[in-house]
Amino acid sequence: MPHASFPRIDEPTGRALLDIVRGCTFDDFILTPQRSVVVRRDPSRIDLSCRLTRGITLNRPIVSANMDTVTRAPMAIVQAEEGGIGIIDRGFRPGVIEPQVREVEQVKRAQHGVIADPYRITPEATLDEAAAAMSRARIGTLVVADADGRLRGMLTNRDMRFVQRAGVRVADRMTPVERLVVHEGTLTHEDAERLMIERKIKKLPLVDNSGHLLGLVTSRDITRQRHLPFATRDLHGRLMVGAAIGATGDFLERAAELIRVGVDVLVIDIAHGHSVVMQRAMEQFRKQFGTFELIAGNVATAEGARFLIDLGADGVKVGIGPGGGCTTRMTTSFGVPQVQALVECRLAVGDSGVGVIADGGIKRHGALAQALLFGGDAAMLGSAFAGTQEAPGETVHKSVVLPESGKTVKVPFKVLRGMASLEAIRDRLDVEDADRVELEQIGAEGMEISVPARGSARTIVRDMIKHLCSSISYGGADSLAGLRQAFWKDPNAFVIKQSTSAQRESYER
Ligand code: XMP
Repeated sequence: MPHASFPRIDEPTGRALLDIVRGCTFDDFILTPQRSVVVRRDPSRIDLSCRLTRGITLNRPIVSANMDTVTRAPMAIVQAEEGGIGIIDRGFRPGVIEPQVREVEQVKRAQHGVIADPYRITPEATLDEAAAAMSRARIGTLVVADADGRLRGMLTNRDMRFVQRAGVRVADRMTPVERLVVHEGTLTHEDAERLMIERKIKKLPLVDNSGHLLGLVTSRDITRQRHLPFATRDLHGRLMVGAAIGATGDFLERAAELIRVGVDVLVIDIAHGHSVVMQRAMEQFRKQFGTFELIAGNVATAEGARFLIDLGADGVKVGIGPGGGCTTRMTTSFGVPQVQALVECRLAVGDSGVGVIADGGIKRHGALAQALLFGGDAAMLGSAFAGTQEAPGETVHKSVVLPESGKTVKVPFKVLRGMASLEAIRDRLDVEDADRVELEQIGAEGMEISVPARGSARTIVRDMIKHLCSSISYGGADSLAGLRQAFWKDPNAFVIKQSTSAQRESYER
């Protein structure tokens, strides 16, 4: 998709902009409005496609962060349905790979074109086994196939309702293949839909000419494909998802398991990605997994970005210290203001085809447009999605005193924590019982905070997208690519560095 790529930047223009943004971040700038050419700021008409990595493009430039209080399957599903992508965190204990694999599987099974490997059971299995399989997979229908993979029938939870299960076999309750509508061979979505309407069925198994199961099409999947036109899908119509693996310990084993269940992109994510630890990890990764789509980070300098590209990254994550739950800059005095980091890394990446992911510090919706103009192909957000109903974690009710009335009310909160906070590290390392000394040796670079529980992340994404379309309109363009083109042709026409009082006027309310 050529539209998705960042424009070519000529060197003097790049260097001049770098001089302007040195030491600066989002709130230091405001952008000059241009003559608008957009008649309606309609997100379904404005092209926001962007690159994520060398091989993956997104229709919406939003990535939810791999943090254990932000992205697990429910968040990743919403992000992919809305055209972005979620990265499942690796905040599971070392050596414990299965829970992260299950999250990825859940996303990959959330929607399909054709379900190539539907949950299945043999006719000889008991109804108790079938019920257990349905509840484990949280589904209501099992395809019944024999040991050779030949379709024998279908069993739904309705077939088991009010039935004494003891001693009863699946074969006794299923709808046998002779009474099912079955299609031989593959077929297009449109043909599947037509057949399902004609025969008034919700599930259509596909078989080969000797009756072996090829897949399953469901009416639910067909409807979803139609209602979510921007969704990020793989070649089989399944939602795409990423996962973080770290750079040491079980990371290669973790990668292998995640790839086995269909993860689309992996992220080697460490606090300081310009390091020997990263070098070793990426060399080992490439040796074992060849060209599998890989994002690496985090870096915040041109040298750091080039280092990752030379090691074979398909995407680089940019941001040292801007994150909402992050204390790196306070505890170490190292980091780069995010706009400077983005411009530097953008110039370093050039037209290598590697994606730049602007990671962290997007606190107001308008900063998303800045992140995508100054250098990000896509942007990663954490705290923006914290507290939503798709964010992992319990909702707790805390007493809050209302300033106006002095009354105490119970307000629902969820936790947001930096992945390098003591709390997150403690959970990950399972050091609850370790002696105190070990815990005290951990140099935390993140914090844990409570954020008010709110509605769905879908509403937030849609609001952000609407605001991004408005930014494009103010910028005189009719697509994200067009806005970037105009911006990098003449950054001076856009970039206003603000005085402190202008910053207050712009961003303080
Ligand atoms: P926002 O601002 O969207 O940023 O919440 C999300 C990004 O913050 C980073 N992150 C951390 N950085 N210590 C850090 O230095 C931490 O504990 C920490 N936790 C998250 C991460 O890059 C994430 O995507």
